[in-house]
Amino acid sequence: MSPDFAHAAFSMDDFTSVAVTEQQISDKLDQIAAQIREDYEGKEVLLVGVLKGAVMVMADLARRLPPSVEMDWMAVSSYGSGTKSSGVVRILKDLDADLTGRHVLIVEDIIDTGMTLSWLLGNLRSRGAESVEVAALLRKPDAVQVEISVRYVGFDIPSDFVVGYGLDWAEKYRTLPFVAVLKPSVYSED
Ligand code: PRP
Repeated sequence: MSPDFAHAAFSMDDFTSVAVTEQQISDKLDQIAAQIREDYEGKEVLLVGVLKGAVMVMADLARRLPPSVEMDWMAVSSYGSGTKSSGVVRILKDLDADLTGRHVLIVEDIIDTGMTLSWLLGNLRSRGAESVEVAALLRKPDAVQVEISVRYVGFDIPSDFVVGYGLDWAEKYRTLPFVAVLKPSVYSED
Protein backbone atom coordinates (compact mmCIF):
# COMPACT_ATOMS: atom_id res chain seq x y z
CA MET A 1 0.00 0.00 0.00
CA SER A 2 1.29 3.42 -0.87
CA PRO A 3 2.05 5.52 2.22
CA ASP A 4 1.21 8.63 0.18
CA PHE A 5 -2.47 9.31 0.65
CA ALA A 6 -2.29 12.88 -0.61
CA HIS A 7 -3.53 11.94 -4.07
CA ALA A 8 -5.66 8.96 -3.05
CA ALA A 9 -9.43 8.97 -3.47
CA PHE A 10 -9.88 8.35 0.24
CA SER A 11 -8.68 9.63 3.57
CA MET A 12 -7.46 7.42 6.39
CA ASP A 13 -9.44 9.40 8.96
CA ASP A 14 -12.31 6.89 9.00
CA PHE A 15 -10.10 3.93 9.94
CA THR A 16 -8.32 2.86 13.09
CA SER A 17 -5.87 0.63 11.22
CA VAL A 18 -5.20 -1.29 8.05
CA ALA A 19 -5.99 -4.97 8.65
CA VAL A 20 -4.62 -6.31 5.36
CA THR A 21 -2.55 -4.22 2.96
CA GLU A 22 -2.87 -4.10 -0.80
CA GLN A 23 0.50 -5.86 -1.09
CA GLN A 24 -0.53 -8.60 1.33
CA ILE A 25 -3.71 -9.21 -0.67
CA SER A 26 -1.76 -9.36 -3.91
CA ASP A 27 0.83 -11.79 -2.52
CA LYS A 28 -1.85 -14.01 -1.00
CA LEU A 29 -3.84 -14.14 -4.24
CA ASP A 30 -0.66 -15.16 -6.06
CA GLN A 31 -0.31 -18.08 -3.62
CA ILE A 32 -3.96 -19.11 -3.76
CA ALA A 33 -4.05 -18.91 -7.56
CA ALA A 34 -0.94 -21.08 -7.82
CA GLN A 35 -2.56 -23.66 -5.55
CA ILE A 36 -5.81 -23.58 -7.54
CA ARG A 37 -3.93 -24.04 -10.83
CA GLU A 38 -2.18 -27.07 -9.33
CA ASP A 39 -5.32 -28.57 -7.76
CA TYR A 40 -7.47 -28.13 -10.87
CA GLU A 41 -4.83 -29.11 -13.44
CA GLY A 42 -6.65 -30.36 -16.56
CA LYS A 43 -10.07 -29.42 -15.20
CA GLU A 44 -12.48 -26.69 -16.28
CA VAL A 45 -13.30 -24.43 -13.35
CA LEU A 46 -16.43 -22.35 -12.86
CA LEU A 47 -15.86 -19.49 -10.43
CA VAL A 48 -19.02 -18.42 -8.62
CA GLY A 49 -18.85 -14.95 -7.10
CA VAL A 50 -21.25 -13.89 -4.37
CA LEU A 51 -22.38 -10.32 -4.96
CA LYS A 52 -21.53 -7.73 -4.07
CA GLY A 53 -18.62 -8.19 -1.71
CA ALA A 54 -16.75 -10.73 -3.81
CA VAL A 55 -16.37 -8.48 -6.85
CA MET A 56 -12.83 -7.34 -6.07
CA VAL A 57 -11.41 -10.71 -5.03
CA MET A 58 -13.11 -12.37 -7.99
CA ALA A 59 -11.61 -9.90 -10.44
CA ASP A 60 -8.11 -10.19 -9.02
CA LEU A 61 -8.16 -13.96 -8.46
CA ALA A 62 -9.70 -14.76 -11.85
CA ARG A 63 -7.00 -12.79 -13.64
CA ARG A 64 -4.37 -14.97 -12.00
CA LEU A 65 -5.97 -18.13 -13.41
CA PRO A 66 -5.92 -19.55 -16.95
CA PRO A 67 -8.27 -17.81 -19.40
CA SER A 68 -10.36 -20.98 -19.65
CA VAL A 69 -11.94 -20.32 -16.24
CA GLU A 70 -15.52 -19.11 -16.34
CA MET A 71 -17.19 -16.65 -13.99
CA ASP A 72 -20.79 -16.61 -12.85
CA TRP A 73 -22.53 -14.64 -10.13
CA MET A 74 -25.13 -15.06 -7.44
CA ALA A 75 -26.76 -12.50 -5.21
CA VAL A 76 -28.19 -13.77 -1.96
CA SER A 77 -29.70 -12.14 1.06
CA SER A 78 -30.50 -13.23 4.57
CA TYR A 79 -34.19 -12.96 5.36
CA GLY A 80 -34.73 -9.62 7.05
CA SER A 81 -31.86 -7.37 8.01
CA GLY A 82 -29.71 -8.25 10.97
CA THR A 83 -31.00 -11.80 11.10
CA LYS A 84 -28.04 -13.54 9.54
CA SER A 85 -27.86 -15.99 12.40
CA SER A 86 -31.20 -17.47 11.27
CA GLY A 87 -29.28 -19.03 8.39
CA VAL A 88 -32.26 -18.51 6.10
CA VAL A 89 -31.07 -17.21 2.77
CA ARG A 90 -32.97 -16.23 -0.36
CA ILE A 91 -31.66 -15.93 -3.88
CA LEU A 92 -31.86 -12.43 -5.36
CA LYS A 93 -29.99 -13.37 -8.53
CA ASP A 94 -29.38 -16.95 -9.52
CA LEU A 95 -26.57 -18.40 -11.62
CA ASP A 96 -26.84 -18.46 -15.39
CA ALA A 97 -24.79 -21.66 -15.61
CA ASP A 98 -26.02 -25.23 -15.31
CA LEU A 99 -23.79 -26.84 -12.66
CA THR A 100 -24.23 -30.44 -13.79
CA GLY A 101 -20.82 -32.08 -13.84
CA ARG A 102 -19.00 -28.79 -13.22
CA HIS A 103 -16.09 -28.08 -10.90
CA VAL A 104 -17.43 -25.09 -8.96
CA LEU A 105 -15.27 -22.78 -6.86
CA ILE A 106 -17.25 -20.28 -4.79
CA VAL A 107 -15.34 -17.01 -4.37
CA GLU A 108 -16.15 -14.98 -1.26
CA ASP A 109 -14.72 -11.87 0.31
CA ILE A 110 -15.40 -12.86 3.89
CA ILE A 111 -16.71 -15.63 6.10
CA ASP A 112 -18.30 -14.11 9.17
CA THR A 113 -20.83 -16.42 10.84
CA GLY A 114 -20.47 -18.87 7.96
CA MET A 115 -24.25 -18.98 7.48
CA THR A 116 -24.21 -17.70 3.91
CA LEU A 117 -21.62 -20.19 2.73
CA SER A 118 -23.14 -23.07 4.64
CA TRP A 119 -26.42 -22.51 2.84
CA LEU A 120 -24.73 -21.85 -0.49
CA LEU A 121 -22.66 -25.02 -0.34
CA GLY A 122 -25.77 -27.10 0.25
CA ASN A 123 -27.66 -25.34 -2.50
CA LEU A 124 -24.95 -25.63 -5.16
CA ARG A 125 -24.06 -29.21 -4.24
CA SER A 126 -27.69 -30.20 -4.80
CA ARG A 127 -27.46 -29.05 -8.43
CA GLY A 128 -25.33 -31.95 -9.62
CA ALA A 129 -21.89 -30.32 -9.63
CA GLU A 130 -18.90 -32.66 -9.78
CA SER A 131 -17.26 -30.65 -6.98
CA VAL A 132 -17.99 -27.50 -4.99
CA GLU A 133 -15.20 -25.80 -3.06
CA VAL A 134 -14.69 -22.39 -1.46
CA ALA A 135 -12.05 -19.69 -1.75
CA ALA A 136 -12.47 -16.84 0.75
CA LEU A 137 -10.09 -13.93 1.19
CA LEU A 138 -11.01 -13.29 4.83
CA ARG A 139 -12.39 -15.31 7.71
CA LYS A 140 -13.34 -14.28 11.24
CA PRO A 141 -12.72 -17.42 13.29
CA ASP A 142 -14.23 -15.91 16.45
CA ALA A 143 -17.54 -15.20 14.68
CA VAL A 144 -18.02 -18.54 12.92
CA GLN A 145 -21.21 -20.29 14.01
CA VAL A 146 -21.24 -23.18 11.57
CA GLU A 147 -18.31 -25.32 10.57
CA ILE A 148 -17.72 -25.26 6.85
CA SER A 149 -15.01 -26.83 4.82
CA VAL A 150 -13.10 -23.99 3.16
CA ARG A 151 -10.38 -25.10 0.80
CA TYR A 152 -8.65 -21.77 0.28
CA VAL A 153 -8.50 -19.03 2.93
CA GLY A 154 -6.50 -15.83 2.62
CA PHE A 155 -6.40 -14.36 6.11
CA ASP A 156 -7.93 -15.11 9.49
CA ILE A 157 -8.75 -11.76 11.08
CA PRO A 158 -10.19 -10.55 14.41
CA SER A 159 -13.91 -9.81 14.62
CA ASP A 160 -13.50 -6.09 14.01
CA PHE A 161 -15.75 -4.13 11.67
CA VAL A 162 -13.69 -4.22 8.50
CA VAL A 163 -14.32 -2.51 5.18
CA GLY A 164 -12.59 -2.25 1.83
CA TYR A 165 -11.68 -4.54 -1.05
CA GLY A 166 -15.36 -5.32 -1.60
CA LEU A 167 -16.53 -5.03 2.00
CA ASP A 168 -18.86 -2.17 2.76
CA TRP A 169 -20.44 -0.11 5.45
CA ALA A 170 -23.77 1.22 4.13
CA GLU A 171 -22.49 0.48 0.59
CA LYS A 172 -19.44 2.69 1.07
CA TYR A 173 -15.72 1.81 1.22
CA ARG A 174 -15.98 -1.21 -1.13
CA THR A 175 -13.49 0.40 -3.50
CA LEU A 176 -10.59 0.69 -1.05
CA PRO A 177 -7.61 -1.31 -2.34
CA PHE A 178 -6.95 -2.68 1.17
CA VAL A 179 -8.96 -3.95 4.16
CA ALA A 180 -9.27 -1.51 7.06
CA VAL A 181 -10.85 -1.44 10.50
CA LEU A 182 -13.62 1.14 10.55
CA LYS A 183 -13.65 3.64 13.40
CA PRO A 184 -16.68 3.01 15.65
CA SER A 185 -17.47 6.73 15.45
CA VAL A 186 -18.23 6.30 11.74
CA TYR A 187 -20.88 3.62 12.09
CA SER A 188 -22.34 4.78 15.39
CA GLU A 189 -23.10 8.32 14.21
CA ASP A 190 -26.40 8.99 12.43
C1 PRP B 1 -21.20 -10.53 3.32
C2 PRP B 1 -20.11 -11.33 2.61
C3 PRP B 1 -20.64 -12.74 2.69
C4 PRP B 1 -21.45 -12.74 3.96
C5 PRP B 1 -20.68 -13.42 5.03
O1 PRP B 1 -22.20 -10.22 2.40
O2 PRP B 1 -19.91 -10.91 1.30
O3 PRP B 1 -21.44 -13.05 1.57
O4 PRP B 1 -21.71 -11.39 4.33
O5 PRP B 1 -21.40 -13.40 6.24
P1 PRP B 1 -21.79 -14.72 7.03
O6 PRP B 1 -20.59 -15.61 7.06
O7 PRP B 1 -22.16 -14.21 8.41
O8 PRP B 1 -22.96 -15.34 6.35
P2 PRP B 1 -23.36 -9.18 2.72
O9 PRP B 1 -24.59 -9.92 3.15
O10 PRP B 1 -22.86 -8.13 3.66
O11 PRP B 1 -23.66 -8.57 1.29
P3 PRP B 1 -22.66 -7.83 0.27
O12 PRP B 1 -21.68 -8.86 -0.21
O13 PRP B 1 -23.55 -7.34 -0.83
O14 PRP B 1 -21.97 -6.71 1.01
